[in-house]
Amino acid sequence: MKVTVVGAGNVGATCAQIVAEKNIVQQVVLIDIKEGLSEGKSLDLWQTAPINEYDTRITGSTNDYSKTAGSEVVVITSGLPRKPGMSRDDLISINAGIVKSVTENVIKYSPDAKIIVVSNPLDVMTYAAYVTSKFPKNRVMGMAGVLDTARYRAFLAEALDVSPRDIQALLMGGHGDTMVPLPRYTTVSGIPVTELIDEEKLNAIIERTKKGGGKLVNLMGTSAWYAPGSAAAQMVEAIVMDQKRIFPCCVKLEGEFGLNDVFVGVPVKLGKNGVEKIVEINLTADEQALLVESAAAVKEIMDVVDGMNIL
Ligand SMILES: NC(=O)c1ccc[n+]([C@@H]2O[C@H](COP(=O)([O-])OP(=O)(O)OC[C@H]3O[C@@H](n4cnc5c(N)ncnc54)[C@H](O)[C@@H]3O)[C@@H](O)[C@H]2O)c1
Repeated sequence: MKVTVVGAGNVGATCAQIVAEKNIVQQVVLIDIKEGLSEGKSLDLWQTAPINEYDTRITGSTNDYSKTAGSEVVVITSGLPRKPGMSRDDLISINAGIVKSVTENVIKYSPDAKIIVVSNPLDVMTYAAYVTSKFPKNRVMGMAGVLDTARYRAFLAEALDVSPRDIQALLMGGHGDTMVPLPRYTTVSGIPVTELIDEEKLNAIIERTKKGGGKLVNLMGTSAWYAPGSAAAQMVEAIVMDQKRIFPCCVKLEGEFGLNDVFVGVPVKLGKNGVEKIVEINLTADEQALLVESAAAVKEIMDVVDGMNIL
């Protein structure tokens, strides 16, 4: 069992590390366009194996995709991260070109892989990988919802002074400002969160979650990596271990939630076949309106990419 992580930068290396530490696959291949980077990081990571007690081999390659052959899952993190003052959408044309070329290389050697896209703007890069790969839609998905939901859960745990493990939550929609919060589907060990926190405080946490990524960009001068890398690794685990876990992931919708031909975050079941099911939960009219708005924002950027003739 092999997993490839494309992009040995902050998010990619973190994802590779966490997948390896989970000890769930035989090999993790880290690949990057920058000479020596993935070889160096993979060597450094492999030297943590005796300390952190895992067997997963980590190897690196500068742009030689033959080393990635037969990967079960490929995580695409290559691209420019967002810099202060730069919106996710500024990254469109550069990252779409990168995701396209990387996907072409990946599918040559791993035609049966499940692809998890992390590069931003997330929903549109997932579309780029889907169009380029021509894979069935269950094998191309984007990571955003697991991260956004983790941020929301972490902030709630802090506010309620409870374990983050006990908070179950679900966010839908596009990654970032247009994400759709669903307090009705948030519980603390089964207790509806609305019984534990007042509406004003909950709304402040939702706002903090929406701006969670931007806050980190401002603090660090680049976008986050520990939580994004961990989130992608959790999706890898769900697939390679066939866990059938329900996570919010960016997938292509074909009629679900009344939306068509758009990539947006919805709850899905992840297992060995990738996205095994889209879980069509009931939404109130207000929630549905937010989802439609969020999907429209993604569609607008998908149209921009189409207009650029990159894909
Ligand atoms: N989906 C999310 O929730 C989420 C969260 C955080 C970051 N991101 C995105 O993930 C991406 C990576 O972020 P990062 O912080 O790791 O950036 P980074 O700059 O640390 O790493 C990106 C790596 O991609 C490599 N790269 C560029 N072009 C390549 C190509 N053609 N082939 C192979 N490798 C190539 C670069 O050399 C670099 O090492 C960015 O687009 C960022 O916006 C998404």
